[in-house]
Amino acid sequence: MRTKIVAGNWKMNINRDEAMQLVNDISAEIQNHDINGNRVMVFPPFLSIQGAQDASGRDSRVEVGAQNMHQAESGAYTGEVSAKMLLNAHVTKVILGHSERREYFHETDELLQQKVDAALKNGLEVVFCFGEKLDERHLGNHFTVVEKQLRKALFHLSKEDWKKIILAYEPVWAIGTGMTATPEQAQEMHAFIRKTISDNYSEALAEGVSILYGGSVKPSNAVEIFGKPDVDGGLIGGASLNAQDFAAIIKAM
Ligand code: G3H
Repeated sequence: MRTKIVAGNWKMNINRDEAMQLVNDISAEIQNHDINGNRVMVFPPFLSIQGAQDASGRDSRVEVGAQNMHQAESGAYTGEVSAKMLLNAHVTKVILGHSERREYFHETDELLQQKVDAALKNGLEVVFCFGEKLDERHLGNHFTVVEKQLRKALFHLSKEDWKKIILAYEPVWAIGTGMTATPEQAQEMHAFIRKTISDNYSEALAEGVSILYGGSVKPSNAVEIFGKPDVDGGLIGGASLNAQDFAAIIKAM
């Protein structure tokens, strides 16, 4: 039985005060809901992380992570934050590879490999995002693109390392567009991802990896998407900024 996860990526939204309020509201919304061994995570901007942690208490069911980190341990990298700094701030998980980082900050598969290695070396858990663009899907290249993204950033990892990896398949054309992949498209890709991991490692390892879907997940489509056998929850953008919507998505997992 794989762990299901609903994670909210707040992107560059929500200041420190709002973070405290939003986490309080999410906790209240799911107060009487049994998450049944599954996991709920939120990923605030750096400056709002502590507010979210303070509101959740560090042992609450709402886990708090970071949206990014630098691959170096420390040094002259103005504006950046290292894995060790995250750990020191009690942050034990980080999103890497988001398409917005790839697009606007020119993060390549090679750079992402370094970031993944730095995160794992420091014991962080990684939510690794990847997915094809619209033209790549139209050309029928989506499986090749996804396999390449995984191979370059993750397939050098040991089986032990994979215990700290959560995957998030996010077709770029579905992010923030309202254009969700159909449950069948999500299932088809998730099954392909699991098979690819199985072929490169083992079936047992592949069966244990949580693969989240991201891209315009809403309360109205979450049940159907999460109902697919290889979809283990979601990475939620816009709808994670509203406590009621996010709670409804949590309840769909
Ligand atoms: O990280 C989350 C994804 O980019 C999905 O964002 O739910 O606003 O489409 P969205």
